[in-house]
Amino acid sequence: MSGIVGYIGKQPAQPILLDCLKQLDYRGYDSAGLAISNHQRIEVRKEMGRIEDLEASLILEPIAKGTLGIGHTRWASHGTPSALNSHPLSDDKNQFFVVHNGIIENDHQLKRMLTSEGHVFVTETDTEVIPHLLSHYNTGNFEETVQKVIPLLKGAFALAIMSHSEPNTIIAISQENPLILGFGKHEAFLSSDIPALLTYTREIHPIKNGEMAILTPDGTKVKTLLGELLEPKKVFIEMSKEAIHLQDHEHYMLKEIMEQPKAIKRTLDGRLTSEGVILPELDAFFAELDVHRIRKIDIVGSGTSYHSGIIGKKLLDTMLDIPVEVSISSEFSCEHGSLGPGNLVIVLSQSGETADTLSALKEAKRCGCPTIAITNNKRRNIARKADYTLFTSAGPELAVAATKAYTSQISALMLLAIALTEKTNGPGMALIPDLLNALHQLPEDIEKSLIMTQDAIDQFAQVTNDQDHLFLIGRGLDYVLALEGALKLQEVAYLHADAYAAGEMKHGTMALITPGVPVIALATQEKLREKTISNIRELKARDAFVVGITTTGDSDVSDVVDEVLYIPEAHPFLMPILAAIPLQLLAYYAGTVRGYDVDRPRNLAKSLTVE
Ligand code: F6R
Repeated sequence: MSGIVGYIGKQPAQPILLDCLKQLDYRGYDSAGLAISNHQRIEVRKEMGRIEDLEASLILEPIAKGTLGIGHTRWASHGTPSALNSHPLSDDKNQFFVVHNGIIENDHQLKRMLTSEGHVFVTETDTEVIPHLLSHYNTGNFEETVQKVIPLLKGAFALAIMSHSEPNTIIAISQENPLILGFGKHEAFLSSDIPALLTYTREIHPIKNGEMAILTPDGTKVKTLLGELLEPKKVFIEMSKEAIHLQDHEHYMLKEIMEQPKAIKRTLDGRLTSEGVILPELDAFFAELDVHRIRKIDIVGSGTSYHSGIIGKKLLDTMLDIPVEVSISSEFSCEHGSLGPGNLVIVLSQSGETADTLSALKEAKRCGCPTIAITNNKRRNIARKADYTLFTSAGPELAVAATKAYTSQISALMLLAIALTEKTNGPGMALIPDLLNALHQLPEDIEKSLIMTQDAIDQFAQVTNDQDHLFLIGRGLDYVLALEGALKLQEVAYLHADAYAAGEMKHGTMALITPGVPVIALATQEKLREKTISNIRELKARDAFVVGITTTGDSDVSDVVDEVLYIPEAHPFLMPILAAIPLQLLAYYAGTVRGYDVDRPRNLAKSLTVE
């Protein structure tokens, strides 16, 4: 899981590669490196840590200047984060230099074969087999050698390769993992993601499976792996640069939390009308599939996307007369029952490239299930592989922690639930008018939730600075939300946060409650509030410090907690969106007060393209 960049043109390559890498560092930030060619020789520099560490090293000890090169920012999957394991990686004769995003699944067999032929491996990475294979099968022609080696590799990978014997050329390959070719005036770019290219070009071609891009000073060619020339389909990117700039915010995470009213408005735009819900992207789905024949719905996602999936399940359970199950993507293949054309599988993925979710999607397709992807990224594998796609349109999410991804996924699920209920005349028909009203009001309610909770949460984060443990409790949808809140706190504030169904605490975990332990009690569901209040009393009897989150107008929760936060009251199904706001803010402020890099939490990366 990593980010790849490349440049060829008339400008010095180093600053362009570093700039693009900085914009890709959400994909991994354990180490970084680049290889630059001055048309005669290729020089490599790698450093542990962030791109800034690599940049500092290049200032202290510059490498040769050149106008073409490749770069990499790494999230360690095989081998510890270290300068040795960072990319570009080379063979023992330093003939080929490779940057790689993905996994080579048959690296052990390949290494064994190469070792028996005298190759010596020095890193713990799977990637190292690639330069060794290239060197082993070197025909003397760079392009031909790449064509020979790629079919030997199993797995999902994107590669940019340079060759010592042809230092004017970069070859790029994309096999299941994204790699974007950008076209400039007498120059070309490579990047794992589009936003990193926006400063330089808006004309792109996402390299497809089975294609290879050959970048030389005379121009860029796209060919099949058999060497046939292809005409790249150039796409013009409209995305605004503001969408990827911090603007007045100190961190992307806070920017993305604050952007949620606008992000949700975009999710609903053109789909939520005064007449009801219209989903033009799913016209084909409703035309091609007889929805009355859906026997079961499976929702699949990882991490935060899994949590929005659980909300989706509860919603669909209420609205439809069809059983719904929700699975963690990495568990789906091992746990699903019999699947077939009667099972609709809905996969959720912000990035559209999470390997676990992609693999669940492939499994669903293998079993003949119709599939819908709810994703924020149009040009990613998950959107390409699913039969139908509903885009969340939340705009780029660059902080590693998902915030607007969560709320926009739930909003999209709500639209889908309404459309499916109408088509199947499900039991939730009577709920639709209220849901529609609530959805129209949603962006404004999110804005209110931000205003009502931001300062109080900031203060609470300061007072919990010395705490190592925190619990979140809730019932029903509030419990699902507690799971999401706990994940955010673990991820961004490195705080041991655990979520429990409020009624479960007394069955064991209550033993961990000692005086002063902070507990966030979610009580946004009116029908469940009384019971949650009883559970809060049990915690207070053990002197926990309880912060209640409830809706305006409720006075019962404030009587039993130490502090109370109010959020606007909305339809019960929308409360997980409104109450997510203070939990996201808490993770953000708790992370910053502890001095952590909230946008780039340790050991994590944004898009996990390995299983
Ligand atoms: C948590 C977080 C992750 C992602 C998960 C799935 O804040 O960001 O748990 O939600 O890795 O990612 P996507 O939605 O891109 O498939």
